[in-house]
Amino acid sequence: MHEFAYKRDQLCCEGLPVKDLAKKFATPLYVYSAKTVLDHFLKIKKAFAPLKPLICYSVKANSNLSILKLLVDKGAGLDIVSGGELYRAQKVKCLAKKVVYASVGKTVKEIKDAIEYGILMFNVESAPELERINDIAAELNRRVDVALRVNLDISPKTHAYIKTAKKETKFGMEPDLAKDILINQRCYPNLNMKGVHIHIGSQITEARPCVDAIKKIKALIKEVKAQGVILEYLNIGGGLGIIYDKERPQTAAKFARKVLPLLKSISLKVILEPGRFIVGNAGILVTKVLYVKNTIQKKFIIIDAGMNDLIRPSLYQAHHTIVPLSLYRRKTKGTSKKADIVGPICESADFLGKERDLDAKVGDYLAVLGAGAYGFVMSSNYNSRPRVAEVLVKGKEVKLVRKRETYKDLVAKEIIV
Ligand code: LLP
Repeated sequence: MHEFAYKRDQLCCEGLPVKDLAKKFATPLYVYSAKTVLDHFLKIKKAFAPLKPLICYSVKANSNLSILKLLVDKGAGLDIVSGGELYRAQKVKCLAKKVVYASVGKTVKEIKDAIEYGILMFNVESAPELERINDIAAELNRRVDVALRVNLDISPKTHAYIKTAKKETKFGMEPDLAKDILINQRCYPNLNMKGVHIHIGSQITEARPCVDAIKKIKALIKEVKAQGVILEYLNIGGGLGIIYDKERPQTAAKFARKVLPLLKSISLKVILEPGRFIVGNAGILVTKVLYVKNTIQKKFIIIDAGMNDLIRPSLYQAHHTIVPLSLYRRKTKGTSKKADIVGPICESADFLGKERDLDAKVGDYLAVLGAGAYGFVMSSNYNSRPRVAEVLVKGKEVKLVRKRETYKDLVAKEIIV
């Protein structure tokens, strides 16, 4: 469920007409619903309540400080992947002991900064990284907590670019290597091996591959335990899918029902890292129709948002539902050609929707749904387009949470020589 719905033929966010926001803040514009973000967080919390897990929201999905603060204030931890995300975690005063840090390419500075902040643990992705963290810990005279990310060679049904646990992907360590390291952990005297981490991919709509992954990691935990290795944490990552189109993903409660018995039998403290599930359907991208172009082949609805604002359709052929803000413009089926909804960028990959039953005229506003996760965060200045504004609706309040960039911002760091 989310808080975007039609009221008297106008698309509203938490009851406020989105058109008013589009007029006030201009387009393109990201609009987020605070209630939806929190409802989704609470859904996961409730579903997993018997385990009292640490829920570390995955910052990469939507890193706006106001979104992070909403969640941190409700007790969420954060899953980070860079020094920049660590900085954001600090900015919203996330308790260091609720921060976990993954990524295959942590730099020396990033590792040092995270140790100094006192994060809960690093999710370590390779033996060389483990050695580096051990060396830095020695230099800083600290003992540092780590979990080993294990690559279980599991292939959930999702886009190839967001599968992360097939053995040919760069993430995590082979199970045998992880076992070997855990058993010989005395070789890393400045590290505490606290747990294991698995994250098999994103936008996963069925429990099966996750259950398989947990079963595999359970066997590994059992094997190392037999060799005297005591672990405290099992981090099962994120990945819960949402509805973009015709997907019928499991609910958090259904997913929990499938994995809870298994997780209970492992009896380690559980960490979850949901991103998309919390923010995906809590955000839309609002855009205005610039032109309608009819060619013999096709109809193009040309909008003011492009692939630089939302790259998911171009990069993953992802489907985002596109609807008018005012319902009376909605096309009655079969009256005209299907339309491609395209942006102003000079690339044929610049589309937000293809072959859609959508009728629109110049000046109409449209909403691209399900844009709260991996939307603004993946946007760029390509074609020298300033990044767009973001607003957060919180009941009757509307807050600008990121200003629209200006042309001046575009060149602010450049030097003419
Ligand atoms: N934990 C780790 C270690 C991750 O790599 C990710 C996402 C998550 C948690 C959160 O996954 P989620 O719950 O959001 O599925 N840009 C792509 C998605 C990339 C996901 C990267 N890792 C997209 O737009 O579909």
